[in-house]
Amino acid sequence: MVTIGIDYGTSNSEVVLSDGKHHQFVELDSDSKTPFKIRSSVFIYYEDDLPMPPVEVIEEKVQHIKRGISAQLDKAKDKYEEATTPAEQRRYLTQIDQLRGEFHNTPKLQRRAINELLKHQSVDDLPLYKMVETGTFLFGEAGFKQYLKTPEKGRLIYSPKNFLGASLLSGQRDAFVGLIAKQLGFFKSKAEAQLGKTVEGAVVGRPVKYHGTRGEDGNQQAISIMRDAATLAGFKKIDFLEEPIAAAYRIEQQLTEEKVALVVDIGGGTTDICLIRLGTQQQHQYDRQQDVLSVTGTRLGGMECDKNLILKSIAPSMGLGSETTNGIPVPPLYYNDMVAVDDIPRLNSFFSDEMGLEIAQTMSVAKEPEKLEKLLTVQEEKLSARLVNSSRLAKEMLSAKPHIVLPLKYIDPQYQVELTEADLKRSMIGWMARVKSLITECLKKSPEQPEILFITGGMSLSPVVQAEIKAMFPNLPVVEADAFKSISEGLSIQATRL
Ligand SMILES: Nc1ncnc2c1ncn2[C@@H]1O[C@H](COP(=O)(O)OP(=O)(O)OP(=O)(O)O)[C@@H](O)[C@H]1O
Ligand SMILES: [Mg+2]
Repeated sequence: MVTIGIDYGTSNSEVVLSDGKHHQFVELDSDSKTPFKIRSSVFIYYEDDLPMPPVEVIEEKVQHIKRGISAQLDKAKDKYEEATTPAEQRRYLTQIDQLRGEFHNTPKLQRRAINELLKHQSVDDLPLYKMVETGTFLFGEAGFKQYLKTPEKGRLIYSPKNFLGASLLSGQRDAFVGLIAKQLGFFKSKAEAQLGKTVEGAVVGRPVKYHGTRGEDGNQQAISIMRDAATLAGFKKIDFLEEPIAAAYRIEQQLTEEKVALVVDIGGGTTDICLIRLGTQQQHQYDRQQDVLSVTGTRLGGMECDKNLILKSIAPSMGLGSETTNGIPVPPLYYNDMVAVDDIPRLNSFFSDEMGLEIAQTMSVAKEPEKLEKLLTVQEEKLSARLVNSSRLAKEMLSAKPHIVLPLKYIDPQYQVELTEADLKRSMIGWMARVKSLITECLKKSPEQPEILFITGGMSLSPVVQAEIKAMFPNLPVVEADAFKSISEGLSIQATRL
């Protein structure tokens, strides 16, 4: 059986086949500059007509129409009572009969409901499960580009992995199973086309703790969604491995003696850490629990930095920190909700008409209304995901340059923000402190101290992260390996042992 390693990441995903020594990456996105990894976002859209509204929505509309008819009936009955001539009475009786007929003609009511719904329907009215059932899926760059071109024709799920540990209603759970099954099915078919073999097994990476507020229940839910999705995608054998342990297996290949390694993996959605004994006698076994000294992890990744950078350095030019003419601060909540791209209820409340009205009202009394106008544009045009993505790009550029100008033309043609390394560093202070305390916690739980350090995951490319973590261990030798590939390669190594 061919078994692949799948690093299903918050931001990016990779698929690798290993023979124990060599790693073959699967080309997942030919539209990308980095075709061997793919954006984890998915755009589900409708090229032409939207699907028929769901039964419950039609039924709700039918009830709404019936309430209208009922009110008309009451009025006609009153008129009948008050009528003074037989001719008038006959007229109202006919009307009453007609309305009663309409009230009980279910097929006609349903047709009317569907027509009214279709006239006003937009993608926003469709529940996610309906979109998963009926929409067209576009993955990677193709999906993101289509979202930029026609955002109104579909919905972008920026980081599906971020939702797996969250509170989900039962329909939402099924929606995510269906959505991720489509992604994993896409990976599987790409792997099979490239390898020329049927792929039936997968070792899938998992964070120590999934992003979410539900603790162990959230983790169980996330794993069960991933397992169901992989099964639906046609995988016969599925196993999971903690991401930092996978990264450790990768660097184990370059060790010549036994070492205790501290592995810090900082990705887009989570930070995951482990202390593990590498190069031991068990090194070729599947189960290495004996060698794992401790693991810690939390929902704290690069996306949190992107949001912080917006709040600290971009949102002030959108009115955060400014006041109304009578000296009341513009509510900071607007901005916290604006960036909540991984929290569906909060983001929905930000995109609601009531919120639009509230911001517009605040804008009418603001000292600097032109700033709030930008916030209102993000609200009205649902640009949160785009803004967080711009901030991510800014953060990545600031790894290489001390000063950048970030264009935000999609909010306002003239709008751009200057950002410096120092701005980024300042926005990362609280975040960095939490990463460090997670490392300290991992060390405290372990009976042994590290002999080598390996920092991986996309955020390890940030000079701030590198400097701060290395400063915690000035005497520890640092192992170098690829920031993006180590986890997926480690997963494929584990796949060969399965
Ligand atoms: N050059 C760079 N400088 C700073 N950060 C970067 C750089 N390149 C990528 N990143 C950040 O790394 C993060 C993505 O890392 P990675 O691909 O390891 O995450 P992931 O595996 O998708 O997520 P997770 O493991 O949390 O599920 C993003 O926040 C991205 O902005
Ligand atoms: Mg990762």
